[in-house]
Parts: sequence; C-alpha cells; structure tokens
Amino acid sequence: MNNLCVLVMAAGKGTRMKSDVPKVLQTVLDRPMIDYVIRNVQSAGIEAQNMAVLVGSGGEQVEAHITKSFPGVKVLWQHEQLGTGHAVKSAREWWKDYDSLVVLNGDLPLMKNDSLKRLIALAGEKDCTVITFEAENPGAYGRIIRDKNSVSIIEFKDADEQQRKIHEVNAGCYAFKVKSLLSVIDKITNNNAQHEYYITDALGLMNDSGMSTGAFIMPESEMQGVNTQRELANVSRVMRDEILERFMSNGVRIADPSSVYIGADVEISPDAVIMPNVQIWGKSSVGKNSVIGSGSILTNANIGENVHVIAYAVIENSTLKDGAKAGPFCYIRDNTVLEKGAFAGKFVEIKNSTIGEGSKVPHLSYMGDATLGHDVNIGAGSITCNYDGQSKHPTHIGDNCFIGSNTMFVAPAEVGNGAATAAGSVITQRVPDDSLGVGRARQKNIEGWSLHNHNRN
Ligand code: UD1
Ligand code: CA
Repeated sequence: MNNLCVLVMAAGKGTRMKSDVPKVLQTVLDRPMIDYVIRNVQSAGIEAQNMAVLVGSGGEQVEAHITKSFPGVKVLWQHEQLGTGHAVKSAREWWKDYDSLVVLNGDLPLMKNDSLKRLIALAGEKDCTVITFEAENPGAYGRIIRDKNSVSIIEFKDADEQQRKIHEVNAGCYAFKVKSLLSVIDKITNNNAQHEYYITDALGLMNDSGMSTGAFIMPESEMQGVNTQRELANVSRVMRDEILERFMSNGVRIADPSSVYIGADVEISPDAVIMPNVQIWGKSSVGKNSVIGSGSILTNANIGENVHVIAYAVIENSTLKDGAKAGPFCYIRDNTVLEKGAFAGKFVEIKNSTIGEGSKVPHLSYMGDATLGHDVNIGAGSITCNYDGQSKHPTHIGDNCFIGSNTMFVAPAEVGNGAATAAGSVITQRVPDDSLGVGRARQKNIEGWSLHNHNRN
C-alpha cells in the first residue's frame, strides 16, 4: 500500500439525473453521494494528501463541498468532460510519481470498505485489476470480456449482440501500476460510439503490450452505480436497510423498519425504541431505553437515556437530557437544552433556550432565548416576546417559579426564584424572588348590561 494514491472521478455531467445539482452532490439519505465514497477511501487508511477528487461539471459546487467537508483532500479539475480516460489523464501530473493509482467512479456510494481494501491490496500485483459484478440487468454497464489470463472491457454502446448478453460488468473501480498506465494512457482514443476517451480501454491496450490484467467479482448490491433518479432511490433504500439492520443487530428496537429512516452518522444505544414513521438525521444520538415516538423528525438531536419523545416532535440541533419528555406536536430547535426530566408538551416551540431540571412547558407556548431554572411550571399559552423587530432579547426565569397561563414575557425579562405570575400578565418589569407579578387590567363587571344589549327571547 506504500506510495499509493486514490483518484475519485466526479467531473461527469450526470446527464441522466436530469437535475441542476451535480450528480455526486445528490444525496443518499442525508449525505451527498460523494461523501460515502470519500469516507470509504479514508476508512481504507488512505490519508487526505494521497486522495484527489476530480471535478468539472458543476465543479465549483463540488469543490466548495469537498473543501469544507474534507479539508486536505485535493481537488483537481477536468475542464472539459471528454470521458473517463480523459479524466484520469487530466490528473496525470498529480498521480504520475506514485507507484500505484486506484481510480474510483464517484457514483458508488454503497461500496464496502473491504472491497476497496482488497482492490488496494492487489494494486501492486497486476498492471491493472478491476472490480466487476454479475448484474441482474446489465443495462448500459461496460461488459467484462475474460480471456484465459486477461480481462478487457467493452462499453455497452460499442458491444455486439453477443457481448451485450454478458452479465459480468465493470463496476468502475481500478487499480493500476502507475508505470504501466503511463505507457498506455496516451494511446487511448475516442474512436468509439460515444466519441469519448474510455479508461476502460486501458485494459485492452495493456493486454496488447503483454501486460497483466485481472478482475474480482463483488456483489451487485454494493457495486451499483447511480446514473438516474431511480437508481438513486434504489441505492438510498439499500443504504437505509443496511443502517437499520446494523442498529437492530445491536439491540435497538425498530418497530417498523419499512417506515423508519436513519442517517449513516446517527448513534443509537441498545434498548432504544424507534416507533413507525420516524426520521433521524445528521449527528443525532439516542440513549438507552429512550423512545422516539411516531412521526418525529430528529436532526442533530442529542437524546439521553430514558427520554420519551411522545410523537410528532421535530427536534433540531438540540439536547434532551436523561428522563426528559417531549411531544406530541412540539418543535425544539437551535441549541435548546431540556435538562433532566424537563418536559416540552403539546404545540410548544422552544428555540435557543434551556429548560431546567424537572421544569415543564406543557401546552401552547413559545420559549425563545430563555433560560428556566429547575422545577418551573409554565402555564398554557405563555410566551416570550423575544423579538422587538430588530433584535432578540433574553428571558431569565429562576428556580421553582409558577408562571400563570397566558403570561407574556416582554424581553429582556427577568423573574426571580420562587416567583409567580398571574394568568394573563404582560411582564415588563423584573419580578423579584418569591413575589407575584401581576400585569393585567382589573376585571370590572357592568351589571344588567346584557338586559339592554342582548336580544334575549
Ligand atoms: C462507466 C464505465 C463502465 C462501467 C460504469 C460503472 C467508462 C468508459 N465506462 O460508465 O464500463 O460499467 O462506469 O458504473 O468508464 N467522469 C469524469 N469525467 C468524464 C466522464 C466521467 O469525471 O469526462 C466521472 C463521472 O462523474 C462518474 C464516473 O466518471 O463518477 C463514471 O462516469 P459515468 O458517465 O457514470 O460512466 P458510465 O457511463 O456509467
Ligand atoms: Ca456511472
């Protein structure tokens, strides 16, 4: 594996996707397709400086993404996309001084790390080794022509009827001896049905010069490329099933795997329960014995142990500590923390706030830029008026407070420990410790009013 580099080809137009988004940035579950490929290369022990991604079509977007998500990985440009052979050649200055070059199509998100490692391990053996698979429907894949001791590839569009019947196809993963590739790469022509330079022609050229070529077969399930929206959906489904399988074999209970989606970066502890129709994305984690109720969508949510997300909760970039409870129908977002045993209930939105231990926001409330101490009860319909049209302001509520229903906190607002507010109050001044803040009009009754003003029969 010494002195080996990996080139990921991601410059193609992806015409068949019929989308303005570059193909390799199309997402499988919640991540761009290229991320799976790059992480696979990383997991095979290849350091960033020995890895390059070739960009071209939509290249600015792809480059920006790689630079941000995978710092250190080299981005190379293929300004005109004249085919995969041209692609590899246009990166020659970068790979020419290595001993071995592994080339991967950028549209192989399902490829397993073991397969890549095997290809890397074989890199020094033959002049070229490729990965193939037996395709149920070989479609437009390049067909593998096996001779006694050699392998070559004929592209579908150039293949004759007999060759098109071959089911063993090229997966788009190649390991080359650099010296050998250098000796044939300029001989690749575009004299073919697509008028493209094919990297696959390198094998035939090598065979002609007495060099050695070989192939090994991997399952189709991990080697299918993504060229159409249909294939993207298929690949996403396979990926989803694999992720769910991994969790279930670790003791996570997934009530209905056919309706649950979980991203590749999520962590879930054994004995967590994921109810039907749940989605969990990003860097979320779910602790032991926690239940994520139906219809909930979690993104970068950090869920502790014994948490109950009752149902239909949307939780983003927030933390629910052990024993917290949320839902049904709540929206918890932007760095909110529910401390141990805290509760956010029905039709409640909480943004950038900390709800202290054992505190409750049970119904119809909005808490924005607020900190609540422990054991606070927020009455139904209470909200923080945190935005004055220009800036956001904080609300601080101390420990053991009892907030009457429909209290408006005009922020910046402060309520001391052990204080209370009267229902319907608009709080514009500090409520001192252990006091009751009343900020509402007094009730006045007008006797006999109805007799004069209502048509009563
Ligand atoms: C290619 C193979 C085919 C194989 C299939 C597997 C060739 C000629 N054919 O076909 O044998 O069965 O992959 O999926 O290689 N790319 C560039 N620059 C270009 C053209 C393509 O970077 O000028 C990149 C694409 O972004 C993509 C990869 O190369 O990641 C493969 O290109 P694609 O057009 O998908 O090749 P296929 O026609 O699928
Ligand atoms: Ca392809």
